[in-house]
Amino acid sequence: MFAAVNEVGLSFIDEGEGQTILFVHGFPLSRAIWQPQIEAFTKNYRVIAPDLRGHGESSAPAGVYTMAACAEDLQALIEKRKCGPVVLVGHSMGGYMSFAFYRKFSQSVRALVLFCTRAGADSEEGKIGRENLAQRAEREGAAAVAEQMLPKMLAPATSSSRPDLVEPVRKIMLATSVNGLVGSLRGMAARPSALELLPKINVPTLVVAGENDLIVPASESEAMANAIPNAELVMIPHAGHLASLENPEAVVAALRAFLAKI
Ligand code: MLT
Repeated sequence: MFAAVNEVGLSFIDEGEGQTILFVHGFPLSRAIWQPQIEAFTKNYRVIAPDLRGHGESSAPAGVYTMAACAEDLQALIEKRKCGPVVLVGHSMGGYMSFAFYRKFSQSVRALVLFCTRAGADSEEGKIGRENLAQRAEREGAAAVAEQMLPKMLAPATSSSRPDLVEPVRKIMLATSVNGLVGSLRGMAARPSALELLPKINVPTLVVAGENDLIVPASESEAMANAIPNAELVMIPHAGHLASLENPEAVVAALRAFLAKI
């Protein structure tokens, strides 16, 4: 399906019936990372999974994609589809957006799942790294970003033993437009810290961490869960930053157990 929101054309799926789960992917990915969860949850829930602006089949305007602007895209989609409040599941950059979303639209959030993500802002060094990568993407295209990100996306054991997973993930990254890459990199670099927000989160929250995540160390997820009142933490074994694809069964089980309680 396709919807025009905030002058962006968002491609999304909206399937199933019941409580809505909104799955938000990370960078530079697409809703395809949630395919196993979409298949599992459309049986008992309404599942909405968009391609974020600049990613997948959505349109890719030029400019900086702030997390707040992307959160507004999500809220506009929720309003269009009349599906709130939602269980918001945000993977990595999708998690950064979930914090921006919660700040602005907490009335639309039934529960939060912070998935392989972090609350802190980028360090100065991290910001420089993002800008260098944005400039490389402008010069060399998506291949430069895929080359840098892919080795960190998956747990080392997945990268060495699962070509059936590595290649589709590479393909998703290569399909991301240069505007999408550059806009997201600059938007992530500009995001504020959400550390001060954590103690104020007052919806049921699940933190999901990949045991071998090379981008967000499991210890950081643990600290984030400790800072959120009554948050639960689930560590996904045999998985890195892309736990939804690396160990889909464990992710489905963790989400199912959480959803049953809220
Ligand atoms: C993501 O998966 O969204 C990115 O790794 C996030 C980031 O680069 O900080």
